[in-house]
Amino acid sequence: MPSNAELLEIAATVARRAAALALQRRRDGVEIAASKSTLTDIVTKADREAEDLIRGAIAAARPRDGFLGEESEAEPGSSGLTWVVDPIDGTVNYYYGIPAYAVSVAVVEGEPDPSTWRTLAGAVVNPELGEVFTAFEGGGAALNGRPLRVHEGVELPLALVGTGFGYDAEVRRRQAAFVHELIPQVRDVRRIGAASLDLCNVAAGRLDAYYERGLNPWDHAAGALIAREAGARVGGLGDAPAGKRLILAAEPGLYEQLDPLVQRYYAEWE
Ligand code: IPD
Repeated sequence: MPSNAELLEIAATVARRAAALALQRRRDGVEIAASKSTLTDIVTKADREAEDLIRGAIAAARPRDGFLGEESEAEPGSSGLTWVVDPIDGTVNYYYGIPAYAVSVAVVEGEPDPSTWRTLAGAVVNPELGEVFTAFEGGGAALNGRPLRVHEGVELPLALVGTGFGYDAEVRRRQAAFVHELIPQVRDVRRIGAASLDLCNVAAGRLDAYYERGLNPWDHAAGALIAREAGARVGGLGDAPAGKRLILAAEPGLYEQLDPLVQRYYAEWE
């Protein structure tokens, strides 16, 4: 069994290579390949190419591991490890040329299900800014090799809170209704457009908190570990771990303040 540091080395190397490819394709001109859950939920040719690159590199380095990616068929492995990959998180930003998209690569132990998995290592790369966020379990989080730490001691009225919206119109109407309730109680709200970066922003103290409902495993696998290793508490609905029904990440003191508000609203939305 490789060490977590060795797994991180693989994750960061393939994420950097895919980031270079995505950046090159962005400069060449982005083409939409298809729409997915709704007309606004797009996949570009570059998403598919980047996922193929990552999948091939991981298969070569770790042939017995499983794979769960946003753009291709999941494949179980026999080693107990699975790579959870979003080749381009923030695809709409990518399409519009907004420099807030990322390649996210994580490796988890156990079933590839956020309610039970243990994330061992993860890397999130923003190709436009040349930022490489990394963490392995028990090893702390870093940005381009420099240790990261969450903002500490922020009270709710001064908190800058990130969130995101799904692609389904009815889901986002309800998500917006909660923002309506939350925004008078905090410093401000940001919708940056890439969940993996939102979580890394919490790790880097660029956001005080982040929450979202409806994320897929590849959106948060690497970012949640990076936030946790930088000192954030990361959780889900009720006592459940972070997952599709909710992810909330914040420095533990702020988490205690934000959690009741988020829980009350999202528990009713079942
Ligand atoms: C999306 C982004 C966005 C979040 C959505 C995700 P994609 O991922 O992370 O910020 O609000 O819930 O689906 O589609 O760009 O890979």
